[in-house]
Amino acid sequence: MSYQIHHGDNREVLKNLADNSIDSVVTDPPYELGFMGKSWDATGVAYSVELWQEVMRVLKPGGHLLAFSGSRTYHRMAVAIEDAGFEIRDQIMWIYGSGFPKSHDVSKGIDKQAGAEREVLGEKITGRALGGSNWKDGDAGGQEFVSITAPATAEAKQWQGWGTALKPAHEPIVVARKPLIGTVAANMLTYGTGGLNIDKSRIVAKGENFDNLKSRPIGKLNTRRNDETDEEFEARVNESPQQLAALAKLKELGRWPANVIHDGSDEVVALFPYSKGGAYPAIRGKSDIGAFAQGGNHKDKPNQARVMGDSGSAARFF
Ligand SMILES: C[S@@+](CC[C@H](N)C(=O)[O-])C[C@H]1O[C@@H](n2cnc3c(N)ncnc32)[C@H](O)[C@@H]1O
Repeated sequence: MSYQIHHGDNREVLKNLADNSIDSVVTDPPYELGFMGKSWDATGVAYSVELWQEVMRVLKPGGHLLAFSGSRTYHRMAVAIEDAGFEIRDQIMWIYGSGFPKSHDVSKGIDKQAGAEREVLGEKITGRALGGSNWKDGDAGGQEFVSITAPATAEAKQWQGWGTALKPAHEPIVVARKPLIGTVAANMLTYGTGGLNIDKSRIVAKGENFDNLKSRPIGKLNTRRNDETDEEFEARVNESPQQLAALAKLKELGRWPANVIHDGSDEVVALFPYSKGGAYPAIRGKSDIGAFAQGGNHKDKPNQARVMGDSGSAARFF
């Protein structure tokens, strides 16, 4: 495969690219926040309809654009992309654990404004030094200490514990597409763009439930016996040939890619609840194992039990 790197200001570089010549654009433009006082983070390109029009010109019809953004400024970029003529197709939520809250301490601010000196009780290492490793968190990894202080004034005491910002833990990604020339089929056949390669993007199904899967012939689907509790039925169905076959299919195909993705950090994985997964309706005329691999969940219905496949942190679905 051959490729070229064009190094420069995209407002200039894009002009040199031919119409309808690019399959997809993946970009992490400035979040326009002036991050850490840096001018590169506020060049205005993310909000520029003209810039996105240029991106659209070079993209093939049906070509996808993925553009990262900050949670505070996503909307403005998404509107600029839409105003340029793109179809907004989705929003991917990227969840990460390395963010650092840039919060103003309300109580300290009140004391400062009053000119009151706070008693220093000790020091603590900041979240930035403890956590972040990506550029968005600034000088991550450095040893930063802040003083632990006691409120000096009554007002500062009243507002102790108040701040102004949440810890950043997600970045929205615009998923947009240049309009098609007709149907998806016509577009795909002409340009090879317009669709998403779902099977190549599937999430590998792994975990203890997928290890040592025994293959057994698929028999009649299970129904709950009158003398059986839900738990007993679930346990029995979990070992049923249908369930094992469905798990094997899921293992082979992987899970359907979702519009939530995460960094896999311990912090983020721990945020997701423990869950059982990959439901598959036990009581049905036919077994629909393909649907199982699509990752849907079936609500409990009378005389139906959810067939629980694997279990673990719900992070495994994403
Ligand atoms: C959000 S940062 C990308 C960070 C990168 N993804 C990383 O993880 O290191 C945005 C980048 O866009 C660059 N930038 C800003 N305006 C630009 C322009 N007009 N043309 C090309 N790059 C630009 C900035 O210098 C900055 O490096």
